[in-house]
Amino acid sequence: MSNSISNSNNTSAKNAGNAKTNILENIVGYSEGVERKRAREKTGSDFSQEKWKTSNDIAKLHPKRLQLKVAEVIQDTPSTKTFRLVSTGAILPPFQAGQYINLYVNINGVETARPYAISSCPTHRADPENGYYDLTVKLVDGGFVTNYLLHNVEVGQQFSATSPMGTFYHNPLFHGDKLVFLAGGSGGAPARAMIESVLNRGLKIDFHLIYGNSYENDVIFEDTFRELAEKHDNFHLTEVISRPTEGYSGRTGHLNAELITDVIGSVEGKTFYVCGPTPFNEFCEDQLTSLGVQGKHIRIECNGPPKTPSCLENWPSVVSEQDEVRVKVQGKGEFIAKVGEPLLNSLERNGYTVENACRSGECSLCRVKVIEGEVFNPPEARLRKSDETFGWTHSCVAFPTTDIEILY
Ligand SMILES: Cc1cc2nc3c(=O)[nH]c(=O)nc-3n(C[C@H](O)[C@H](O)[C@H](O)COP(=O)(O)OP(=O)(O)OC[C@H]3O[C@@H](n4cnc5c(N)ncnc54)[C@H](O)[C@@H]3O)c2cc1C
Ligand code: FES
Repeated sequence: MSNSISNSNNTSAKNAGNAKTNILENIVGYSEGVERKRAREKTGSDFSQEKWKTSNDIAKLHPKRLQLKVAEVIQDTPSTKTFRLVSTGAILPPFQAGQYINLYVNINGVETARPYAISSCPTHRADPENGYYDLTVKLVDGGFVTNYLLHNVEVGQQFSATSPMGTFYHNPLFHGDKLVFLAGGSGGAPARAMIESVLNRGLKIDFHLIYGNSYENDVIFEDTFRELAEKHDNFHLTEVISRPTEGYSGRTGHLNAELITDVIGSVEGKTFYVCGPTPFNEFCEDQLTSLGVQGKHIRIECNGPPKTPSCLENWPSVVSEQDEVRVKVQGKGEFIAKVGEPLLNSLERNGYTVENACRSGECSLCRVKVIEGEVFNPPEARLRKSDETFGWTHSCVAFPTTDIEILY
């Protein structure tokens, strides 16, 4: 009896191991990396002496910076354009559908960046001649970078960007094969990459996209999604419009618990991806929680700093977003900043460069130490206890509420 249990345990452990190996072998460059490791092991190499070889292998798969050129600009909707970017250097690195790159721009001398999800399927990046990433950008009223991208960028223009990053993607080992994507507005961008990735690879995954938009003439990838839903039994599409014109006959309103259960039935055994503006993400999370979906089955993509930090809990009532404070950068200089502007943005506008990627409080790259004064850290700052204790803050989501002195 105990033998048969241990045999079946061995078999399932072996199967799990095989599945993991198969997944890894699909990653471009993985098998070659393993071969090189084996060859080094045979010669009894001391890996510490070959450190540079390993880091070179990693850098080939995931370079720190990509050099990109706009090959095409596609007007998707009145408010949205897709920028098709090709590499001017090495072949574009692989990525998981749902990941983003941080795009660097120089706007009238201000060096800044914004993260954008890659909206094309990973299969389109590998062609050495024509491989590309699509970035799909929705105009934000008064937005610094979106106004520049949508109104000034032309074919041929060059940019640098980070390699693909982020954890918002389907993990077959943990997320199962019944996926529901709740997208709002520009959240359609990673949704397209994920859906096409599932369908192009013929994966046995059931995928339901519930896509909320304000206006029916501003639905990104509407035709693509409709055609795919027509063609594939395992892809279902529900469109929801919150501000319909008179006579609109589709679903209207918000992605609330009632609508979700109405279109997908039971939430049992399903993994939910949520991507849209932060208030949309928070609303969807609340609705899913009210339906009994556990946190581990809800994957939420971040979406930048809070738009109106003064509305958040613990905002000091004595300051308003329009107030100005003095920011001293130890050993480098000082400038005046608006309280309501993320510290990273005001640093960049005043010529200071701080490494960054997610611009949403997640990756920690933009950490600066607050030596004197106070900053407001919203919940998305996700500061480690030690950071809080020693005064470090994520400048991308930190708001200076008094004069401050920082070090980085
Ligand atoms: C991981 C990640 C992936 C992203 N992917 C995409 C994507 O694929 N497509 C895309 O279009 N965007 C995406 N974004 C958002 C993007 O990074 C920028 O935040 C957005 O384009 C606005 O930049 P901006 O410089 O124009 O606005 P900013 O100048 O940074 O903002 C100015 C003001 O505009 C308002 N504002 C800013 N952002 C928003 C918003 N999203 N909704 C409403 N009001 C806003 C606020 O009042 C803000 O104070 C993503 C963000 C993250 C973190
Ligand atoms: S840029 Fe990622 S935490 Fe600030």
